[in-house]
Amino acid sequence: MAAPDLNPSQEKPANSVLTARALTRHYHVSRGLFKGQATVCALNGVSFDLAPGKTLAVVGESGCGKSTLARALTLIEQPTSGSLNIGGHEVTGASAETRKQLRRDVQMVFQNPYASLNPRQKIGDQLAEPLVINTNLSRSERRDKVQAMMQQVGLRPEHYQRYPHMFSGGQRQRIAVARAMMLNPKVLVADEPTSALDVSIQAQVLNLFMDLQEEFRTAYVFISHNLSVVRHIADEVMVMYLGCTAEKGSRDAIFNKPLHPYTQMLLSATPTLLPDASKPRIKIQGELPNPLDPPPGCVFHRRCPYATERCKSEVPALREVGDRQVACHYAENFL
Ligand SMILES: Nc1ncnc2c1ncn2[C@@H]1O[C@H](COP(=O)(O)OP(=O)(O)OP(=O)(O)O)[C@@H](O)[C@H]1O
Ligand code: SF4
Ligand SMILES: [Mg+2]
Repeated sequence: MAAPDLNPSQEKPANSVLTARALTRHYHVSRGLFKGQATVCALNGVSFDLAPGKTLAVVGESGCGKSTLARALTLIEQPTSGSLNIGGHEVTGASAETRKQLRRDVQMVFQNPYASLNPRQKIGDQLAEPLVINTNLSRSERRDKVQAMMQQVGLRPEHYQRYPHMFSGGQRQRIAVARAMMLNPKVLVADEPTSALDVSIQAQVLNLFMDLQEEFRTAYVFISHNLSVVRHIADEVMVMYLGCTAEKGSRDAIFNKPLHPYTQMLLSATPTLLPDASKPRIKIQGELPNPLDPPPGCVFHRRCPYATERCKSEVPALREVGDRQVACHYAENFL
């Protein structure tokens, strides 16, 4: 039904800190009274490698599986199938102790910083909590580490004693980022971390992400609707559609010459990002298909201006085309 990812058994590169192979997550949902159960393929065979200090941006419309991917990568949810390797350790089949360690290595920052903080606990104590649980540091050592991280994210020492409601949205996201960074994780998964913030604050928080990455060489999986943000922060970009990878490649490949019609459509929605303003824009058309009843063939065919009869029945494999991977039968036509 959906495009299988390119060579899912492909070996993990030596420098990858996070490797996903054919990661899949299904949900069983009720169709309604007397209609029985159905399966949503929220994530449908996604593969990628991520090196230390690099950022993979994941983009796509609402419901394409970005948060499902985030939950699988952070071990919040088990994938239905596929494999995940974190820092050289296979997650599938790992012992409880190893999984606990791996959970520390991949931390998450959510969209809404207020919801992710405990309203009744002082900021300093919330930041110290991961150290209490995972280290043998003394109280004063923990305090020193927390103060150092607070400074690193642009908070002042007196903020240690304050509660979340006393901070602005931008400051709260700084606190959430500080907490995620307390155990010096290998990977940070950020799910729309700036989209709830005022536009004027977004750039500051993005810069914070970039400064921390430079300092700690943390790898980021950065999920965002906002392609201007993605172009600013990404090394690699993965475009998702209905749980599948439509296109994946370097930031420059994707933004300078999008090959998948869906990527072209997404970029057309932000004209300032279009590589060649003289080219006709592909207008966003149609709605996302019902994930309970995805179209046969290419899952994008009902919205694609280039669809042919072949697209209605034959699933396009994700394959190398030029300098990236694309799941479109006719990707060469756009080179
Ligand atoms: N717990 C669940 N039970 C059933 N279906 C789910 C569950 N979580 C997600 N889904 C479905 O899986 C698909 C992918 O959802 P997901 O939240 O990953 O998308 P998303 O790309 O993060 O969307 P958004 O941009 O709105 O955050 C959707 O069709 C969604 O309805
Ligand atoms: S041209 Fe066909 S295969 Fe390519 S994206 Fe459009 S519908 Fe899918
Ligand atoms: Mg989401």
